[in-house]
Amino acid sequence: MIKSSEEEKKMTSGIISTRIQTGFTLWFTGLSGAGKSTIANILEKKIKDLGLKIEILDGDIVRTHLSKGLGFSKEDRDTNIRRIGYVASLLSRNGVIVITAAISPYRSIRDEVREMHENFIEVYAKCPLEVAEQRDVKGLYKKARAGEIPQFTGISDPYEEPHSPEIIVETNKETPEGSADKILRWLKENGFIEG
Ligand code: ADX
Repeated sequence: MIKSSEEEKKMTSGIISTRIQTGFTLWFTGLSGAGKSTIANILEKKIKDLGLKIEILDGDIVRTHLSKGLGFSKEDRDTNIRRIGYVASLLSRNGVIVITAAISPYRSIRDEVREMHENFIEVYAKCPLEVAEQRDVKGLYKKARAGEIPQFTGISDPYEEPHSPEIIVETNKETPEGSADKILRWLKENGFIEG
């Protein structure tokens, strides 16, 4: 069927006005209390304000549904991370921006979820253990030191730093707002977000 030029114009303008969004996953990793969720939430707002679709998969929240019942053995953490990675890969390949905020302490499983993605950006929320422990936002470090929480990351369980993350935010030196801006700048400079 031949469309009238008026119809064609409408269609073309419809297509042009549709914002094409590249999906990607910003994968935060870092100690409990390093500031992953705080920065993720600030960043979410900034990205939403640009009119883009975004979802956060936060470790603490994911563990209340998708990973309910899982503990903190290496096996359970790996299962948790694989689940988060799987959902993130589905969303991001469909044009959604995904931020994950789980400790994800093991390098090999982070590398495994990286492989599941087309666009994977690892963000290391770097913070000395002493600082995270001093903040002790949830009071868990104190309990871990007292032996009340076994296998606590950084105290009685390992945290493996990333070797070559795309972005490092030093949360003992930067404000959460500053870290979020730094990530946004990186995304613009690397063509993930129009800037
Ligand atoms: S991960 O290791 O599987 O990536 P995740 O980010 O989901 O961990 O959950 C970490 C959060 O669970 C911490 O911020 C803390 O509030 C809580 N938590 C409870 N027990 C532990 C533990 N043994 N080690 C680390 N975090 C724990």
